[in-house]
Amino acid sequence: MAIVVSLLNQKGGVGKTSSCHHLAGTLAAQGRRVLLLDNDPQASLTQGIFGPGAMRSFGPSESMAALYDPDRAPIPEAVIRPTPIEGVSLVPGSVHLTRFNQMPPERWHESDGGMREFLADPDVADAFDLVLIDNPPNLHLCGWSALVASNGLVVPLQAEDYGAQGIVAVLEAVEAVRRHRNPDLATLGFLLTMYDKRLAIHVAYERQLRDLYGPLVFDAAFPLAKDFKEAVASRLPIARYKPRSAAAKATAAVAEELVRRASESARSTVDQAAERGAA
Ligand SMILES: Nc1ncnc2c1ncn2[C@@H]1O[C@H](COP(=O)(O)OP(=O)(O)O)[C@@H](O)[C@H]1O
Ligand SMILES: [Mg+2]
Repeated sequence: MAIVVSLLNQKGGVGKTSSCHHLAGTLAAQGRRVLLLDNDPQASLTQGIFGPGAMRSFGPSESMAALYDPDRAPIPEAVIRPTPIEGVSLVPGSVHLTRFNQMPPERWHESDGGMREFLADPDVADAFDLVLIDNPPNLHLCGWSALVASNGLVVPLQAEDYGAQGIVAVLEAVEAVRRHRNPDLATLGFLLTMYDKRLAIHVAYERQLRDLYGPLVFDAAFPLAKDFKEAVASRLPIARYKPRSAAAKATAAVAEELVRRASESARSTVDQAAERGAA
């Protein structure tokens, strides 16, 4: 049964897509079967893996949009695509997602369970060890549905966002999803991205974040490094592009911590469910 993790922050440019791309490559290089869901109408993850031309060629029934269509169940073979990265499959993003993401909240219930149902299908759940969901920089239907479908949430953060508006809004969404749709959703943690330990502002931000949120902050972080950008430009994850680089090693540390946090939370979720059952 695959573990499903959403990468979500209401802000853009914080490293959500980059984290999905490189974590998938590292986890697959370690032998895990990874499914990426490009749940963003902008489809940057899909472009990073297949190139900009390919991304425009995916129709609604071959992309994430199929998971939101209340009238038709998605066919796993039609939407899940093998990628040139061994061990990584992708459900492509596409502009066809836009109309779902713009649906007014009073209509979300028509579509917000489709992703969860799709991932629970044994043909999908048993074919992968880990599902990573990349998300748009807002909390509309797509982000909400991802939380409904996920076991865990990771919030990527740049060490400069002192307003922390992204964090507060996401945590409120998590509470709402728990209350209404997915009581087992776990916040796995805050993940610093593009971190530069030579910058006093980053160091100060990190200290403040750890004071506020303690163990919820990942020990590992993505360092600021041009290798990550160059790898994506070559349509490769860092583990394939420069496997011995500092960037690749840092990604391995993040990946290991992600898997540890996700499996610990899965255990505690089972415990809580057992307690609920016994009560
Ligand atoms: N660790 C990093 N080092 C250097 N550049 C990065 C790093 N992570 C992301 N970037 C760059 O920052 C920009 C925003 O990242 P992206 O993953 O697209 O953010 P989001 O998906 O949250 O909008 C991209 O140009 C990406 O290549
Ligand atoms: Mg993105």
